[in-house]
Amino acid sequence: MKIILIGYMGSGKSTVGRQLAAFLNYKFIDLDQAIAKETGISISKLFATKGELYFRKIERKMVEKILSDNSNLILATGGGTPCYGDMVQFLKSLAATTTVYLKTSNEELTQRLFSEKNKRPLIAHLNTELLLNDFIKKHLFERSYYYNQSDLKITTDHRSIATIVADIENNISF
Ligand code: S3P
Repeated sequence: MKIILIGYMGSGKSTVGRQLAAFLNYKFIDLDQAIAKETGISISKLFATKGELYFRKIERKMVEKILSDNSNLILATGGGTPCYGDMVQFLKSLAATTTVYLKTSNEELTQRLFSEKNKRPLIAHLNTELLLNDFIKKHLFERSYYYNQSDLKITTDHRSIATIVADIENNISF
C-alpha cells in the first residue's frame, strides 16, 4: 500500500507523513528532501538557479521513481506536486495507492507559513501577513481543483498530529 499526502505548503504533509509511517511501520519519503538529495541542491537554490519549470520536471521524474518501488510507503509531496501536467491522473492510475488531501484553511496556513516563508521560494517575497494571506487565498483556490480529486480529505485546522494520523488510518481500507 502507498499513501500519498497532498496539500498546500504548511498543511503538515511531512509531519503527518512521518508519524503515520512510524505508526504503520511503513517507509517514509519526503519528496522535497529526495529531490534535494538527488540533485545536491536545496529547493530554494533549484528555483533560484534553474527556475520552476526545471524543478517541476525533476519533481515528476522523482515521483515516478519513488512510486515504482514495491514496498509499503508514505510519500509527502510538495504543495505544487499534483497541480502540473497529468500528475493527478498518474497518481490515481496507480494500484494499491491512496491519495490523501490535508485540507487547511487559508487563515491557518497564513499563520503557520509566515514565520517559515523564507524556506519556500514561492512565498519568500511576501513581506506582510496580509500579502501572504491574499496570495494563499488565490493560490489555494486555483490548486483546490487538483487537491479535491484525492481519495480522502482530512481537515487539519486546530487538530493535533496524532488525531489527524488516527483519522487517516481509520479511513483507509488496507
Ligand atoms: C511548492 C511547495 C514546496 C516545494 C516547492 C514548491 C509549491 O513544498 O515543493 O517550494 O509549489 O507549493 P512544501 O509543500 O513541502 O512546502
